[in-house]
Amino acid sequence: MLGILGGSGLYDIDGLEIIREGKIMTPYGEPSDNYIIASYNGREVVFLPRHGRGHKYPPHLINYRANLWGFRKLGVDRILSVSAVGGINPLLKPGDFVISDQFLDFTKVRPVTFYEGIYTIKDETDTTNDLVNEYLSNDRVVHIDVTQPFCPHMRSILSGIMEEKGFRHHTKGTYAATEGPRLETSAEIKALSLLGADVVGMTLVPEIVLARELSMHFASVNVVTNLAAGISGDRLTSDEVIQMMHQRTEEIKQVILSFIENLPQKLECKCEEVLNGAAI
Ligand code: HPA
Repeated sequence: MLGILGGSGLYDIDGLEIIREGKIMTPYGEPSDNYIIASYNGREVVFLPRHGRGHKYPPHLINYRANLWGFRKLGVDRILSVSAVGGINPLLKPGDFVISDQFLDFTKVRPVTFYEGIYTIKDETDTTNDLVNEYLSNDRVVHIDVTQPFCPHMRSILSGIMEEKGFRHHTKGTYAATEGPRLETSAEIKALSLLGADVVGMTLVPEIVLARELSMHFASVNVVTNLAAGISGDRLTSDEVIQMMHQRTEEIKQVILSFIENLPQKLECKCEEVLNGAAI
């Protein structure tokens, strides 16, 4: 089943038929909000606003492990993540979509893994017969491969949808994840640009890493809400980020609904092999 993570400015999805809303507790603590179980054209999906409704959690304090574990408990095996980003690459304009294919991690204080060896937190209610459960139950230390962190099949479906709808988009891009909650200095953006970053945001990591650790497919739709610090003008505001997300709400909704319709049962990729041979 598909799980959808909404970012800043996306706290629900118009067009989905809500089946029920559920609170889930996890051994990692409370997820950002209730999960919304919904359907579209006969297909069930689960939606969660990563900052919580009302934007309760700043990026560095989001309980990413709880959010992902809740998805697992609901049977989610693939995640579509939507987020606002600042544009670094000069080819990017505010309002563009970017389907990232790589990330650079500059986060600092977030729990980054489910697999903590002898410190591993366990969910005694999890009886799934898979490597996740096996590794967690046995306190294994796990190093997942992230050479290709995003699901290539999900990314190609997203590109196809944006192409068909004529939305300005970029089929790849490197996302630099910063700790926040402050925005970046212009020197930091210059440095990130030299390192090869195309966009900057505060939430992709550890979200994608934790999803991969649970053997889930993951793709991300980034909306360029502003040009990053120092690229144009001398001041950035949260108002412009939210305003641009609102301006793009209709397009985001169309992409999500079309994605739900076009997602095949079986994805042609190696995402589900990520845990094979990953534990020590
Ligand atoms: N920097 C970091 N995160 C962001 C930005 C930005 O410029 N815009 C939207 N999210």
